Amino acid sequence: MELLARAQQLERDGRDIIHMEVGEPDFPTPAAVLAAAHAGLADGRVRYTPAAGLPALREAIAAWYEQAFGAKVAPSRIIVTAGASGALMLALALLTEPGDGWLLTDPGYPCNRELVAAFNGRPLPLHVDAGTGFQPTAALLREAWQDGVRGLVVATPANPTGAVLTPNELDALADTTAALGGTLIVDEIYQGLVYDAPAASVLARRQDCFVVNSFSKYFGMTGWRLGWLVVPEGAERQAEMLAQHYFISASTPAQLAALAAFSKDNLVDLELRRQILAERRDVLVDGLESLGLRIAARPSGAFYVWTDVSARTDDSTKLAHRLLEEAGVATTPGLDFVSREAHRYLRIAYTTDVARIAQALERISRVI
Ligand SMILES: Cc1ncc(COP(=O)(O)O)c(C=O)c1O
Repeated sequence: MELLARAQQLERDGRDIIHMEVGEPDFPTPAAVLAAAHAGLADGRVRYTPAAGLPALREAIAAWYEQAFGAKVAPSRIIVTAGASGALMLALALLTEPGDGWLLTDPGYPCNRELVAAFNGRPLPLHVDAGTGFQPTAALLREAWQDGVRGLVVATPANPTGAVLTPNELDALADTTAALGGTLIVDEIYQGLVYDAPAASVLARRQDCFVVNSFSKYFGMTGWRLGWLVVPEGAERQAEMLAQHYFISASTPAQLAALAAFSKDNLVDLELRRQILAERRDVLVDGLESLGLRIAARPSGAFYVWTDVSARTDDSTKLAHRLLEEAGVATTPGLDFVSREAHRYLRIAYTTDVARIAQALERISRVI
């Protein structure tokens, strides 16, 4: 956030900044989604919805699971939330008793630590490295498990590494978590943004996990603040009651807008966006490697490249500041995402077009 604030300051001063630090692509909200929001507002549909979300939206999400992934999910198991953030919060609120430990992949999404702590749980790092493609394995999970662990949170694709679990790998994690008496939370927020294999959902194969998703990334709706949580059968009522207490309901205009997100035309547009992101990934990964930077595990999803800059610097935070000040390229230092060897890594997002990525690579090469 410090770097983002500085980047914005430099922009106000007239500097040209290439933004590769933020977790949102440069695509606008899809036109059909905007039109649905306009229509909803014009109709005066601005009151609270039921706590678990508009029934029509929960049904649309359930239908999409079936159509896209062959997953049968009853709408009653879907709770609409304020982004994946709201869904992670709800799941952790529901599952955490004071003192419970949660294994969180490290590197991983930093907010999970704070959410676990907010419910008096204990965030426990589960260290992963390039050796396992920056994802946990069943063996690593068994090794890290200890008394008082409540469960594991994994994201696939992951932030900041873009690492994707195969269905078999994810099943092994789910089986192991269940065998150890814990609960698995799968964050599928970047589902759909995968480049080397078809998009998948754990829900196609099993129903005992809590699954987080969002309209933010694949559906291009970051600022609308809308996502959802899928709970296992039996947890619906408790999740709904917690949602009532915490949020009353998710944003009504955003829910009305999201009803249009699953239309056939929109899904065609989103597929084109995915292909654009795939091309950007290749350009950025190849470009960084040609600068002598190491990509320890080629990212297969999301829109981040977890770049090992240790061949060029012993301090990635310092490098991020230099890239911004001297080259006008905003990136994110590893510090926030990982507890070990953070100084080796920069997260570089391909959230800008190929021409700007090429320009960024040229500017980065001058600095390093
Ligand atoms: C892995 C992961 N989970 C959850 C979120 C929260 O996203 P949102 O609340 O916008 O859906 C993010 C945002 O970047 C993320 O990277």
